[in-house]
Order: sequence, then structure tokens, then C-alpha cells
Amino acid sequence: MHPPELNPPVAPPQGDAPGCVADWLSWAAGALREVSDSARLDAEVLLCELLDCNRAGLVVWAEQSLSAAVALRYAASIERRRLGEPVAYLTGRREFWSLDLLVSPAVLIPRPDTEFLVEWALQQLSDCSAPQIADLGTGSGAIALALASEKPAARIVATDFSAEALDQARYNAERLGLKQLEFRRGDWLVPLAGERFDLIASNPPYIAEGDPHLAALRFEPRRALTAGADGLEALRRIVDEAPACLKPGGGLLLEHGAAQGDLVRGLMRERGYAQVETRRDLNGLERCTIGLWGLDP
Ligand SMILES: C[S@@+](CC[C@H](N)C(=O)[O-])C[C@H]1O[C@@H](n2cnc3c(N)ncnc32)[C@H](O)[C@@H]1O
Repeated sequence: MHPPELNPPVAPPQGDAPGCVADWLSWAAGALREVSDSARLDAEVLLCELLDCNRAGLVVWAEQSLSAAVALRYAASIERRRLGEPVAYLTGRREFWSLDLLVSPAVLIPRPDTEFLVEWALQQLSDCSAPQIADLGTGSGAIALALASEKPAARIVATDFSAEALDQARYNAERLGLKQLEFRRGDWLVPLAGERFDLIASNPPYIAEGDPHLAALRFEPRRALTAGADGLEALRRIVDEAPACLKPGGGLLLEHGAAQGDLVRGLMRERGYAQVETRRDLNGLERCTIGLWGLDP
């Protein structure tokens, strides 16, 4: 850590005196209160990014003044946050499964909910030291990279339709030194044709087009969020096509919306998957479903 730039000091927009770190944080938290449930945290994370320090640094340097250059950049990033831009796009990073992932507006910001899927995938593969895994719609690479970090002997294929997303995922893998991944572009199961996996995992888009929640997600790529009029288009495709790429006893593990558990179980059973099971997350919501292929239903 190094101290913030000091000179010349600038006041927070509403102040008369040059603003110190503490003043700027109070101003920023106030400016974000209306738009964010985590206004103070957002204010701190955005300032840490500019000062290249951690949150403890903000306490240590609470009385130091910000330089004009940093103050201007901070005010600009607080304004973008106030207009709804997610913190992760402003800082360009998001932690997932304790991995520091770089994110851009080309990829969905990985959610803590998806760590639940990673946990379940690892349990599912606990007896398999060198599994073959596929992550469909990898985005930033979150699921594939988390699994790679836990299963060094696994071979993992990560796919996406978006070339930009794949570039981001590939870059994250390089930064993290995770080498056992292969990145392929294509439509759901198409890039896996002719191969069989122990586990196919996916957090596909599952929001219905026209869902009012999309307004709050307007900075994220629409293709990462929506899947047809009922939100099930991608889930249907994956459930239908995955059997051609699963080993006998291999699993398809899907994240889905909290109200879609019943529907996904129905799709899997209808297609002939066995041991279909949905698990609830810590909030008691049905967020992930698995089905095994090639066993008696
Ligand atoms: C909900 S995001 C999940 C991203 C990442 N796996 C995560 O959990 O953070 C869905 C991803 O699916 C990709 N996608 C959308 N349609 C696709 C398709 N037809 N084939 C492959 N990937 C697709 C999107 O580009 C996006 O990266």
C-alpha cells in the first residue's frame, strides 16, 4: 500500500474545505444512498481501486487529502455508479470462489449464487480425480476457473457463443495460471460434438424477455440474461442436447431461476435423465438441478 496522492487537495463537491479521504467517502456514500443497498461499501471499493489500496488503507489515510486528479476520477466513477453502473464494471474485477476475475461489459458479472453450483459440482466429482468437465456459457470463466482451481487434474472445456466473453475467460485463465482449460466458441452443445464428459455444468440465461427485473440489469449483456419469452429456451436446448456428450452416469448440472426448479426437473425427467434432484440455496430457493444420463430413470 502507498499513501494517496496528496496535492493539490480538492473539496468534495458540497464542501468548502479541501476534502480528506473520510470526507470524500461520506460524500460518496450519501450520493449513492438512494441507488445502492451497499452505498458505503461501493464508495470504499471505488476509492480503493483508484488509490490502489485495500479498505484498511482508507482508515489509515482517512485524514489525507485527495489530489485533484484522483478526486476528479472519483467523482466521475461515483456519478457512473449513481446512474446504475455495477461496481464490478467500474473496477473491472469481481471475486468469485476467492479468485480475482477481470470482468468487462461483455460478460455477466459472476454472482455468489453460482458458487453454490460450483460446490455441488465438486461434490458430484469427489470420486473422480481427473474428470472431463464442460462449462457451457462460461462468460468470465467463473465456473470453469473455479473448478480448475480445485481439480488440477481435470480437463475442462469452456464454451460460449460470444467471442468477447471467451477472450475474457481465456485472459482470466492465463492471469490465474490455470492451464488445463480449453476455450471453444459455439452454440450450446455444438462445440462438444463427438466428446463425452463426466459433468456438464452451466449457468445459462434464464430470464424471460420482458421481465421487469431486466431494467436493473441493463449494463450486462442481454444475451447472457434472457432466453426467449418464457426464459426456458436455453435450459430446454441444453437438457435436450447434453445426453450426446455425457458419459454413462455423467451429470448435467444447471443453475436456473428460483421459480424454475419444477420445470427443469420436468424437462430432465421427460428427456430420460435419472436421479433428478434440485437443491435449495442458503436462502431456501431452488437454484440448481442435476440429472444423470445413461442410468435407469
Ligand atoms: C448467465 S451467463 C453465465 C456466465 C458465467 N457462466 C457465470 O456463471 O458467471 C450465460 C452465458 O451464456 C452465453 N450464451 C448465451 N447464449 C449462448 C449459446 N447459444 N451458446 C453458448 N453460450 C451462450 C452468454 O454469452 C453468457 O456468457
